[in-house]
Amino acid sequence: MEVSNGSSDVKVAVIPAAGFGTRLLPATKVVSKELLPIYDRPAIHIVVSECVRAGIREIILVLSRRKMDILRYFEKDQELESFLEEKGKRNLLSSLEIFRDIKIDYVIQERQNGLGDAVLCAREKVGQRNFAVLLPDDIYIPSDGRPAISILIDKFLELWRKGEINPKAILLLRNVQKEKVRNYGIAYIKKRIGNLLIVGGIVEKPEPELAPSQFAIVGRYVFSPEIFDWIQKEKPDDKGEIQLAGAIGNCSYSDTVLGISVKGKWLDIGNPQGYVKANMFFAKNKRFLY
Ligand code: G1P
Repeated sequence: MEVSNGSSDVKVAVIPAAGFGTRLLPATKVVSKELLPIYDRPAIHIVVSECVRAGIREIILVLSRRKMDILRYFEKDQELESFLEEKGKRNLLSSLEIFRDIKIDYVIQERQNGLGDAVLCAREKVGQRNFAVLLPDDIYIPSDGRPAISILIDKFLELWRKGEINPKAILLLRNVQKEKVRNYGIAYIKKRIGNLLIVGGIVEKPEPELAPSQFAIVGRYVFSPEIFDWIQKEKPDDKGEIQLAGAIGNCSYSDTVLGISVKGKWLDIGNPQGYVKANMFFAKNKRFLY
């Protein structure tokens, strides 16, 4: 299937960033957690850079009304730029210019109603295009140095071009220790072909004894627009939230959902321990900061 813009390429990404960031309170009371610095730049900067390096040209941020500070980060600041220009601080100036050619758009999620609901908020803006989703709490640095989302996009396009399998979703998966499965969406693996995994269901945050595998969703996804229909059909969980993992799981019963497992460094920056670890990692490995 070719999509409406005549291409199956992935040029748009949705970044859900509407959450309260409760695990990082009180730091996140007045500053969005996505703006807390990882070494010398806001966490969201690293995730948007990953998109840009993967050839994505349009970002749709899913925000809440109290998190509009994220949008300000991407706006041009003429006064600051003129000041840096006058002082001849070219390096600093260019660090502010890197998102200049990227369209940064946003939608508001009115109520915190789960990750599935957050992604669904972007439906109208995404339209009939294939799209990427990146969760800004997760930073993943594949061992081969490629941006994590590129690995999914390239595989997605390769399969679409061949036309044998038309996946509706591709997820980045990573083997985790048994006792950690309760923190993640865990995939049931129907079949494994090298590092490509055929997914036959997902359980969101299972107890270790009920987990269908130890393959966790890392927070990088590529979807065809049909996923929105699956999200729309998804029933609220016991907390009343619409889960993205549930929608992908249901989709996998009738359509192709694939997982890719690649070696790499996974940093979860959504909690204080992980946030500090990420800062220490990047202080020692500045070459991975984009
Ligand atoms: C979310 C997803 C989960 C995924 C995880 C990755 O959970 O719901 O499926 O494995 O991100 O970090 P959260 O961390 O928002 O609770």
